[in-house]
Amino acid sequence: MTTSQTFIASPSGPLQGVVKAPGDKSISHRSLIFGGLAEGVTEIDGLLEGEDILATGRAMSSLGATVEKLDQGRWKVIGKGRLQSPQDLIDCGNAGTGVRLLMGAVAGYPITATFDGDVSLRKRPMKRVTGPLAQMGARFDWKADEDRVPVAVNGGELVAIDYTQSVASAQVKSAILLAALNAQGTTRVTEPEKSRDHTERMLTAFGAKVDVQEVGEGWIISLEGGQPLRGTKVSVPGDPSSAAFPLAAALIVPGSEVTVEGVMLNPLRTGLFDTWIEMGADLTISNRRTSGGEEIGDITARYSKLKGVVVPEMRAAAMIDEYPILAATAAFAEGQTVMRGIGEMRVKESDRIALMTAGLKACGVEVEEEPEGFIVTGGPVKGGATVETAHDHRIAMSHLVLGLAAEAPVSVLDPEMIATSFPGFVTLMNGLGAKIGV
Ligand code: S3P
Repeated sequence: MTTSQTFIASPSGPLQGVVKAPGDKSISHRSLIFGGLAEGVTEIDGLLEGEDILATGRAMSSLGATVEKLDQGRWKVIGKGRLQSPQDLIDCGNAGTGVRLLMGAVAGYPITATFDGDVSLRKRPMKRVTGPLAQMGARFDWKADEDRVPVAVNGGELVAIDYTQSVASAQVKSAILLAALNAQGTTRVTEPEKSRDHTERMLTAFGAKVDVQEVGEGWIISLEGGQPLRGTKVSVPGDPSSAAFPLAAALIVPGSEVTVEGVMLNPLRTGLFDTWIEMGADLTISNRRTSGGEEIGDITARYSKLKGVVVPEMRAAAMIDEYPILAATAAFAEGQTVMRGIGEMRVKESDRIALMTAGLKACGVEVEEEPEGFIVTGGPVKGGATVETAHDHRIAMSHLVLGLAAEAPVSVLDPEMIATSFPGFVTLMNGLGAKIGV
């Protein structure tokens, strides 16, 4: 991707207002994939219309489903209960979740599909997914480098496996479970620590039987092959990972009070909110209710004097996408915030430990980088820097939020990837009183 755009976040006055969280990215991907695999009609409301999700929608339509936008956030998917070979290569853009889940879905059908993505996706490891899928019987033909897209997936007759994950990854678990739908026998995935359970919940909503057995801090998920999926209605809750940005801005800009409505409160996604509360954040949750099989609520954040904490390593999976914005808020806290056991951050849309360390340091923040974590020491945040984002939406948004409370403006390079997960981010933030200029 070529671009010359820069966003600049300037020190802002109090942020005030009530906004709605955009639809959850994880659930949006899954709703299109499940809808396309199922037989019959799936109606989705609240779909996140970010670039990543639109790429998954195009992928499902090239695999034989009918995918149609009815209105803002309202989509209809008609599946045939099977997939067909696409005519062209499937471009998943920036989306790790999209490509990994789609590879699992394709593996169970006698078809061939070639997957590719953007410059960031081409750097991300794929063997964590293709390894177990190959054990089940799928074949992979790497087009450039082993372990990286582009890769052709040759699906077919699969057999069930018993798979134990070394790191808690919902993407790996989900790819295996999607393939397991068409495998002979019962597939078991053991997670020593729990990762987000949206796939398990959606399998149930689409009519499959999933068995979940708690074991210590983790669980074993079992799925018998040969179960058909039936189209259903999906209501996508607000994304806690996106809600985190306006809430973070309220915590660090003096005098602010911001409410984000309709945020999903699945405990496997809310580790950041627990951590902020431990840091002394004035965060309240009201109007708890259930929507689309998930608990949701309205979260209000007020400006708070934060203090540093040691984030429990066991919490990593429940906030893995939130460490960049946590690090940005930790820059304004008193003392050190210690974030460890998060080596996975290095293989996200970018090496997020390296990029947050570099960006925060450029803004005058003290950061100690470790192989599997980093430590941020709070203090005056000078800003006045231009930050590299390596096409990573969360690195871009985290530094823009930081810039709102820094002493001098922060410029962010290549910010257009924000549209992958949070289209309308700048408009929403500026509507609350932020000063983000293009
Ligand atoms: C996701 C799982 C997480 C997360 C990603 C979305 C999902 O990745 O970082 O943004 O929807 O399953 P891993 O499963 O690789 O940890």
